[in-house]
Amino acid sequence: MLGWIDDRLGAASWARTGLRKIFPDHWSFLLGEVALFCLVVLVLTGVFLTLFYVPDATAITYNGSFAPLQGQQVSAAFDSVMRLSFEVKAGLVMRQIHHWAALVFVAAIVVHLLRIFFTGAFRRPREINWLIGIGLLLLALAMGLTGYSLPDDLLSGTGLRIVYSVVLSIPFIGPYLAFLVFGGEFPTAQIISRLFVFHVMLLPALLLGGVGIHLAVLWIQKHSQYPGPGRTEHNVVGKPFWPSQVLKSTGLMILTAAVLSLMGGLIQINPVWTYGPFIPTTVSAPAQPDWYVGWLDGALRLFPPIEVTLLGITIPSPFIPGVLLPGIAFTVMTLWPFIEARLMHEGTREHNLLDRPRDNPLRTGIGVAALLVFVMLTLAAGNDVVALVFNVPVETMTNMMRIAVFVVPAVGFGVAWRICEELRRGELHPLGRDPGVMLRRTPEGGFEEVEPPD
Ligand code: HEM
Repeated sequence: MLGWIDDRLGAASWARTGLRKIFPDHWSFLLGEVALFCLVVLVLTGVFLTLFYVPDATAITYNGSFAPLQGQQVSAAFDSVMRLSFEVKAGLVMRQIHHWAALVFVAAIVVHLLRIFFTGAFRRPREINWLIGIGLLLLALAMGLTGYSLPDDLLSGTGLRIVYSVVLSIPFIGPYLAFLVFGGEFPTAQIISRLFVFHVMLLPALLLGGVGIHLAVLWIQKHSQYPGPGRTEHNVVGKPFWPSQVLKSTGLMILTAAVLSLMGGLIQINPVWTYGPFIPTTVSAPAQPDWYVGWLDGALRLFPPIEVTLLGITIPSPFIPGVLLPGIAFTVMTLWPFIEARLMHEGTREHNLLDRPRDNPLRTGIGVAALLVFVMLTLAAGNDVVALVFNVPVETMTNMMRIAVFVVPAVGFGVAWRICEELRRGELHPLGRDPGVMLRRTPEGGFEEVEPPD
């Protein structure tokens, strides 16, 4: 059979090259693959769920097996999720695996992104994969948001109302955009079916296409590697694609699916029957979104209720924390490879050898500070829960977090910078031969003489 294919496609030559392609061997290079395999699990469990889910907001009377809700008016969408949870065989475990896979998927992308950032793997020639990657992250967030809203339960409905208000707050175009997307004033009959089309067709197509291009670029550019014996900017030291990389990745895929299935089988997630159907006039606290949009919710909770008037135009308060700040954050993140290249006067130099975080204290400090801003904002999304736990008024907790969101990242920057400097200094060993002469261990494992620091 292979001969038949080779006769017609000349496959042997490029297959031989491909199968022999060398991949560097390091655990941190598996993070992107974990994201990839979560995506595989999401698609498989998602297909199962679409067989039973009804994307319809029409109100019907629930008469399924969950007694506390029997006789209640719910949407057909919520009803179908209840049936998936209580009546469809394997329905609940599939729902749970799908939800856990979504949470782990975005976490794997973020950790992958952090690996790329702190080792400088975004530098020339890999800026293109960084840009594609940011696109993939945004698509993953949109997938999460649209998927999370499909059950039409009280918690996700509340989340959707917040999204509607943030869209509405955009100056000039807000009301038009909100009506265009939601189909009128929230809640609308159309929104569930529109979210469904986005969640099962448009966004997955873009995501799968984007991942395909991402991996193709990786294949063309070859993978970067950490400095070490025999490794240079012009080679790759590692193992061949076949059999090592393929077997390792297959093992990782099975492990990822196994862990997600275990989580789906053992740990309850998104029990919509405890929230009940979305009824616009009711909302309950505490109401927290999934972790990957926590920072947005936190920003909305911390931002003071001020309305800025510019050139006679009043800018509603959700706009700055809900649109402007995230917009600035993602723009800086997207352009970072070019900002750093400019700051470091990189010119056209290529980087196939990675940095250790200590090698670039400025980048590491900025990365740690940015990460801490996200962490603090995500914590702020639980300001009411934290206030409850520590028995302090929620206003006090909110004000403390308003200060912490600035102080903690600033301290984080200083500490990270300091640690980098110490780690770099720690590589210096006085020889006693000439106190002025110091030795430094090189990444290649050798030693070189360097000037002692001032
Ligand atoms: C659905 C989301 C994503 C998937 C499935 C994915 C998958 C992968 C895989 C499998 C690799 C090779 C192994 C590795 O280095 O981990 C990789 C490399 C890479 N990814 Fe991603 N990725 C995703 C998102 C991102 C994001 C958000 C960024 C950055 C913003 C990014 C930037 C890169 C870069 C620059 C490389 C080359 C790394 C190198 O050569 O060292 N990726 N990606």
